Amino acid sequence: MGTITPPITRKWWKEAVVYQVYPRTFKDSNGDGIGDLQGLHHSIDYIASLGVDILWINPVFQSSGYDNGYDIVDFKAIQPEYGTMADLQQVIDAAHRKGLRIIIDMVVNHTSERHEWFRSARTSREDVYYKFYHWWPAEKGDPPYRCGFFDTDGQGWRYNKPTDSWYLHYFSPEQPDLNWENPEVRRQLYDILRFWLAKGFDGFRFDALTFISKDTTFPGITPAILKEKYHDDWGHYYASGPHLHDYLKEMRREVLAGHDVVAIAEAPGIPPEDAPLFVAEDRGELDLITHFDGIALGYVPGEFKKPDPNGYNMHEFKKVYTTWSDTYNRAGWGTIYLGNHDQPRMVSRWGDDGDKFRTLSEKLLFTFLLTMRSTPFIYNGDELGMKSIRFTRIDEYEDIETHRIYDRLVAKSGDAADFLHDQQVTGRDNGRTPMQWTAGPNAGFTTGTPWLKINPDHPQVNRESEERDPASVLNYVRRLLLIRRQCPALIYGDYTLLTHDDSRVYAYIRSWEVSTYAVLLNFSDAENTFDHLLSQPAANDILINNYPGLRWLRTGLLLAPWQAVVFGCLPTHFHVRPSSPR
Ligand code: GLC
Ligand code: CA
Repeated sequence: MGTITPPITRKWWKEAVVYQVYPRTFKDSNGDGIGDLQGLHHSIDYIASLGVDILWINPVFQSSGYDNGYDIVDFKAIQPEYGTMADLQQVIDAAHRKGLRIIIDMVVNHTSERHEWFRSARTSREDVYYKFYHWWPAEKGDPPYRCGFFDTDGQGWRYNKPTDSWYLHYFSPEQPDLNWENPEVRRQLYDILRFWLAKGFDGFRFDALTFISKDTTFPGITPAILKEKYHDDWGHYYASGPHLHDYLKEMRREVLAGHDVVAIAEAPGIPPEDAPLFVAEDRGELDLITHFDGIALGYVPGEFKKPDPNGYNMHEFKKVYTTWSDTYNRAGWGTIYLGNHDQPRMVSRWGDDGDKFRTLSEKLLFTFLLTMRSTPFIYNGDELGMKSIRFTRIDEYEDIETHRIYDRLVAKSGDAADFLHDQQVTGRDNGRTPMQWTAGPNAGFTTGTPWLKINPDHPQVNRESEERDPASVLNYVRRLLLIRRQCPALIYGDYTLLTHDDSRVYAYIRSWEVSTYAVLLNFSDAENTFDHLLSQPAANDILINNYPGLRWLRTGLLLAPWQAVVFGCLPTHFHVRPSSPR
């Protein structure tokens, strides 16, 4: 990459773009309607053709299937519906042959209730595995309230008769939390991680990793305490365990040290000011963490994923991404994503997925994602412009989160109509409908009956037709990925926000030494003028533009609805105003 010396240590995972595959949804090879490892194996050429660098696959371990693989029964076995260990090895090897790195999702905060450790643990307090989990003995009275995210009653404790005690589960009762305070648990988990490194994985995406350490005195957390100390968010409390950083350091020493791998953690509950504690190089903990501040925007605080009727606010959006970008000026390196398997589709959430602007706004979102100073994550299908399906009935959903909350609300009030309405905007299954490969039956995903309904827009939105169309989202994403690769300043360069006060245009400069890039994004369906230009850049300074041209006025550049344009190499053209308070 060029000759410039970046201001910070170069690492392959800082220069990489991650492509996330949700195997269940990606490609079915045997007609059972469920995406699998052979389907993925046969699609590696496609993934490589995008120009991404790291392939992250969601869990394919043997699981009880309540949470699509996030409830592991055997950490060293493959769920039969996805294939075999040999199939996974084929995927790893094929990815490597294509020059891709590949990382696996590791769920170490909890296991399935059907994991042999828990099956044994729950039989007796004397069982050796009892201390592998967290318990509250019934003789101490009722356990102090903890939130169970995927629990019908919203409870984080579940009573277990044979031991006359309650076990802790931050997610569903089928996902009991492991007791990381027990060194034997950590030893066994490290052994599992080593097992997977030996198979050739280039790193891990650790699920809910900030939740692993617990204050085992289990203090009472009242609503007032939660509000004052933890932003009214159980995720913040759960991320405040006393030994979290000790365990991350230990894991680095015991497992990761000496391997050229990347350690990425899903990091709910971590504010930007604390992020460097996890990823600063001298800390010896992780390499990257993913935050939740962006994807929480546009939801009503304190309510379960309730969409704000006014949508998201552009000032807040810019503030979140600018703050997180600036956080890593001091130390460490960031990540950025606008969608994943836990989110609705990116274009439906942040763009406009109606016929008129779907393609334009999806291209704008990709322009943002791929020009920020962070390692970007692309979620499978977004590169095709796939949109949220918006189910209308509860029985169309598969997701445990949707079902458990629905049951809770129906039990309480007998009515969940509002919730179902909200889920059309926020539900996770919106992002899990099968990948749209062709215009043909079942979008070319399966020859059988798909496990989740396929979006009826697949005759228009699919890989096959987008391959042929030079103006497709797919080909735009490929161009952007190439540009990012060729312009080190877009990776390592400084980030300066230009439009502090604008409620619709998000514009920023990325610069390093002699290279300067300006990214102009009109996040709206109206025309907007951009007046930070001192002079008009030449036509060949346009690196990418999601419209065929530009419209100049005397007062500046007139950005068309959802227009995205990147200019290159013209530091003198832009007027960087002193920043107003954010
Ligand atoms: C993470 C996963 C999500 C899962 C949860 C519990 O947030 O991304 O899919 O349901 O952890 O494991
Ligand atoms: Ca299959």
